[in-house]
Amino acid sequence: KSVSSIQINNKEYPSDDYTNVTPKILSYLNKNLHLQRGHPLCIVRQRIVNYFYSSFTHGGNPTFSVYDNLSPIVSTKQNFDDLLIPLDHVSRVKSDCYYINNSLLLRAHMTAHQSELLRAGLDNFLMIGDVYRRDEIDSTHYPVFHQVDAVRSQRKEQLFKNHPGLEIFEKAFLDNPLSFRNSIIDPSKQSCHTLEATKLMENQLKTHLLSLVKVLFGDDIRHRWVDAYFPFTHPSWEMEIFYENKWMEVLGCGIVRNEIMSNAGPNNSIAYAFGLGLERLVMALYKIPDIRLVWSTDSGFLTQFENKDLHTKIIYKPVSNYPQCTNDLSFWLPPAYTIDNFISNDFYDLVRDVGGDIIEQVKLKDKFVHPKTKKHSLCYSIVYRHLERTLTQAEVNRVHRKIEEAATESLGVTIR
Ligand code: PHE
Repeated sequence: KSVSSIQINNKEYPSDDYTNVTPKILSYLNKNLHLQRGHPLCIVRQRIVNYFYSSFTHGGNPTFSVYDNLSPIVSTKQNFDDLLIPLDHVSRVKSDCYYINNSLLLRAHMTAHQSELLRAGLDNFLMIGDVYRRDEIDSTHYPVFHQVDAVRSQRKEQLFKNHPGLEIFEKAFLDNPLSFRNSIIDPSKQSCHTLEATKLMENQLKTHLLSLVKVLFGDDIRHRWVDAYFPFTHPSWEMEIFYENKWMEVLGCGIVRNEIMSNAGPNNSIAYAFGLGLERLVMALYKIPDIRLVWSTDSGFLTQFENKDLHTKIIYKPVSNYPQCTNDLSFWLPPAYTIDNFISNDFYDLVRDVGGDIIEQVKLKDKFVHPKTKKHSLCYSIVYRHLERTLTQAEVNRVHRKIEEAATESLGVTIR
């Protein structure tokens, strides 16, 4: 009997009747859009990190540490068991997750890393990365998306610094902790926690998340809180923001179940946690109408975000659906010029003059100084695209030729 296996990132994993990852899904594994400079997901990730870095400091250092490079391959223990997700919970079903085999899967949420980081002794941290879910296909769902998850814990001295004497835990719980395990009876709090501690944490959680959303969207953003349920927090909420005439869920949050805290180590603190979906925020922020666009490698999409200050207001302009066509143009500069004093904008204007609106982009691809002749050469890529129809290669070549002629004529360059 042959044992079958699958290869991911040059590692072999045994496969079994749980295996349902596909080559297409695995192809997203190392994309790391949230770390790709100039990508809208990266811009918003950075703005969120900056918010937490600047809002929470101790002794001049950021309180939060950031983990944005954790492997998306996790165990069912990490993704579910450690988070008190019951064995028969719907979120475990094969039809909702991408399993590598019956004990490993592509994380379905960044919360999968919460317990291990708590166990490592961390108390305030962000976990940022790609998550994988089998889901419906529409303009706001994609099988891979990105989340920012966080834990903020506090001990009694920090939480109640203005109210010394108040306690995080009920006295009866401290007297007999074991009798309190998994006791969620009261909708407003966990049985082990005092109401004061829970309310203060709820208030901080909601205040911090609302100011984050206002930092991103401005003060006018409309939001609402909806009661929610997660196995790993209690009480729990979701925040929705008003976008395109609809309420759209952007994050889930709540007070971390004390069983998770004490299993992982700290038994003297209370924590809030949240997980927010980066794509939803990015789409609402830049008015990107379809989630597939965040995976676009089309320069017509990407250049709308590149080389921008983090806070530039960007409104996405739809790019044409017709295909791009890229032709390169290399030339030797006339003797009076070097690659350093040649005015690129002169060339850009010329390209636009000759090519008109079918020019989508011109980018400098290469600079070169000939070692013997010392002549200087530049190479530009010209991206052509018509907004209303598919251009033929012959048509593009004709325009490209005209650009070469005009450049020779008015800039004195020599086409290579
Ligand atoms: N993991 C939850 C999700 O993916 C979000 C969440 C994180 C909720 C942390 C509460 C606390 O939907």
